[in-house]
Amino acid sequence: MKRYRDIAGDGGSNIVRQVQAQQEALRKRLASITYLVGVMSGKGGVGKSSIAVNLAATLAVQGWQVGILDADINGPSVARLLGVRDEPLRETADGIEPVRAAAGLKVMSIDLFLPREESPVLWTAPTQRDAYTWRGMMEALALREMLADTCWGPLDVLIVDLPPGTDKLPNLVDILPRFNGCLTISQPSQLSQFVVAKAIAMAREWFKTPVLGLVINMAGHVCSHCGHEEALFPVEDLEALSRRWQLPILARLPFDPKFSLAADQGRPYVLDCPQAPLSLAFGRLASRVKDCLLARAADGHSGPSP
Ligand SMILES: Nc1ncnc2c1ncn2[C@@H]1O[C@H](COP(=O)(O)OP(=O)(O)OP(=O)(O)O)[C@@H](O)[C@H]1O
Ligand SMILES: [Mg+2]
Repeated sequence: MKRYRDIAGDGGSNIVRQVQAQQEALRKRLASITYLVGVMSGKGGVGKSSIAVNLAATLAVQGWQVGILDADINGPSVARLLGVRDEPLRETADGIEPVRAAAGLKVMSIDLFLPREESPVLWTAPTQRDAYTWRGMMEALALREMLADTCWGPLDVLIVDLPPGTDKLPNLVDILPRFNGCLTISQPSQLSQFVVAKAIAMAREWFKTPVLGLVINMAGHVCSHCGHEEALFPVEDLEALSRRWQLPILARLPFDPKFSLAADQGRPYVLDCPQAPLSLAFGRLASRVKDCLLARAADGHSGPSP
């Protein structure tokens, strides 16, 4: 068997051309999408997927055409959150049609390809030592294929729900021909902000990726009986991250037990409880995200594609 040291040039695989062809295919596919926005955190379980889904639904209600891509290859949840886990995928001559969900959202997730809800995504590697690198590479490849094979059609925005881990944004940014920025989700706890800071540093300093702003999730709880608002975390220093990175806080989303309930029922909360404080906060978040994107495009930063 040849080892990589024994291979002269590209070993006859024409790999450079293949990669160029893939990048070109992806660029053409994404040309019908005005903005590409990631939802990231670095920290797990802070509400990224639920926020991605409800922000997408809010933007759709406000009149935008919205797609949502689940970039969490190993722990996908978007299809479940939108109640489309069992919808069949349709393949056309042009590629795979995204599944349609509430508010006209177009959804794509690896979950839609898995036979059963509990099926894990397995990657094989020659040795355990190789497994980490191999998995990272396979995740990025799977993401690229999914993006390139999906007929998204015209979209104002494609929201990408990222998995936890500070190394995940680079995987996405590496494969995208352009990227308009990401929202960073944190809880008010110091522990959450500590990990989120690493993700922001990675995005900004190492990958020169625009961070549009912070979303503080579970920032307090509004009592459903008396409307009194109280903190959920002992020290809610919401401004610490914002000050340190000079990032605007785009929204403070309160905790609401009905949010989890709606998620379990596969319905965007904002559609079921449009007047609840949490939905109103999503409305403000959506408007601020649109303002950020339009302002950046006006400044000539990776605006709508030609
Ligand atoms: N504001 C909120 N109020 C009530 N529950 C919330 C709120 N935000 C998130 N949750 C709940 O927290 C849990 C975790 O949310 P979610 O799965 O969206 O997080 P995540 O950051 O995507 O997790 P992972 O890192 O595993 O991808 C879910 O049960 C969700 O319903
Ligand atoms: Mg998630």
